Amino acid sequence: MFRFDPYSPAFDADPFPAYKTLRDDYPCFWSDDAGMWVYSRYADILTALNDWQTYSSAKGNLVDELPGRAGATLGTTDPPRHDRLRALIQKALTMKALDHLVEPVRAICNAHLDALDGAKRFDFVGQVSSKITVDLLFHLFNLPGGDRQEVRDKAVLMVQTDPETRQKAPQHIAAYEWMTSYAAGLIAKRKAAPGDDLLSNFITAEIDGETLEDREVQMTVTTLLMAGIESLSGFMSVFGLNLADHPDARRALAADPAGIPDAIEESLRYNTSAQRFRRCLTRDVEAHGQTMKAGDFVMLAYGSGNRDERRFPDPNVYDIARKPRGHLGFGGGVHACLGTSLARLACRIAFEELLARFADFERVEAELPWVPSSNFRSPMRLELAVA
Ligand code: HEM
Repeated sequence: MFRFDPYSPAFDADPFPAYKTLRDDYPCFWSDDAGMWVYSRYADILTALNDWQTYSSAKGNLVDELPGRAGATLGTTDPPRHDRLRALIQKALTMKALDHLVEPVRAICNAHLDALDGAKRFDFVGQVSSKITVDLLFHLFNLPGGDRQEVRDKAVLMVQTDPETRQKAPQHIAAYEWMTSYAAGLIAKRKAAPGDDLLSNFITAEIDGETLEDREVQMTVTTLLMAGIESLSGFMSVFGLNLADHPDARRALAADPAGIPDAIEESLRYNTSAQRFRRCLTRDVEAHGQTMKAGDFVMLAYGSGNRDERRFPDPNVYDIARKPRGHLGFGGGVHACLGTSLARLACRIAFEELLARFADFERVEAELPWVPSSNFRSPMRLELAVA
C-alpha cells in the first residue's frame, strides 16, 4: 500500500521516487500522513494555479500553516484583497530599483567569500548562502546588524515541522511569535523615524489613496523575512549542491559565467527549495476518478510537477542549457513569487563571485542533513572541499 509521507526524513533526503509513483499511479492522491489530497502532475498543478476561485489560498498556503497567517498576508488571501496587498507590496519592492542593488549585493557576496580565502573546506550553508541572504534582507529593510543571527535562526525554525508529531513544535511557534513581535517593533521604530528602505516603503506605499494596515505590514514583514531568508538561502544551497554534484556544469559556468542565469532556471526546475504549498477547495472537484470535497486541502507539489516527464523531457537530467520555460520553482498564477527578480539577481551575483574563486569543489558528506519542513527542501549543512 503506497504511502505519501512528506514528514519522513527519508522523503526529505530524496522525494523524487515518491513523486514519480504519485504522478504515474495516483495523480490525485489522498495522503493520510499529510491529511490532504496531493496533485503531482504539472498539468493538474497548473490548473489549480490558474483557478484561484476553486483552489483558494485564504485558509493558508503553508502545508502546516502558522497561527494567524491565514487571511493576513498576500500569500494567504484571495483576490480582490490579495491583489490590493500585492499591488502595494510590489510598489514598495520596486521603489528601490533593482539596479541599485547590484553593487551592494556584490559587496555582500565578496565579504563572505573573501572570508574563505585559503580555506580548504567550508560549510556553504552556514558560511555562504545563509550569510549572504540575511545580509541582503537586512540591507533591504535597513535593520540593526546585531539581530542578524537571531533573525536567521528564527526564520529557519519557523518553516520547520516536527517529523514525529507531524505538527509545529512549541519552538517553531515560538520562533514565529518572536518574528511577528520583532516586526511590530521595527514598524513602530520606522513610523517614528522613516527612512529610504523597504519597510518605510511598506508603511507609506499607497494605491488609490489606501495604505497597508499595521497588522498587514507586520505579517508582510514576517512573511518576507521567512520567504526571503529560507526560500532564497535554501535555493542558493541546492544550486551549490547541484554544482558540487555536476562537475561538468560547474566547470562550464566557471569558464563562461554568462550561462549562470540559465543554470539558475534549471536548478529552480530540478530541485527548487519551495517544493510544496497548499490550497483549500471552495467546491467539490472531480479529478482522476476521485471526488474531493469543498473544504478539503490540496497539496500542490511543485517539485514533482517540475520533474513531470509529460512536460519536461528527461526530467531527472540536470541540464543547464535546458531553458525550462514554465517551471514551477516560483509557483504560478496570481500567487507567483514576488521576489523572483531579487532572487535571480542575488543568485547570479553570488555564483559569479563563488565560481571566480572556486571552480573546483566537491561535497564532503554523501548523506546530507535536510531541514525538516513539509514545504521547503534544503540542506541544513553543505560541507564543500575545495580542490
Ligand atoms: C529562489 C528563491 C525563492 C523561491 C524558490 C521562492 C518560491 C516561491 C513560491 C513557490 C511561491 C508561491 C507560493 C504559493 O504558491 O502559495 C512564492 C511566493 C512568494 N514569494 Fe517567493 N521565493 C523565493 C524568494 C523570494 C524572495 C527573495 C522574496 C522577497 C523578499 C519572496 C517573496 C514572496 C512573496 C511575497 C510571495 C507571495 C506572493 C503572492 O501570494 O502573491 N520570495 N515564492
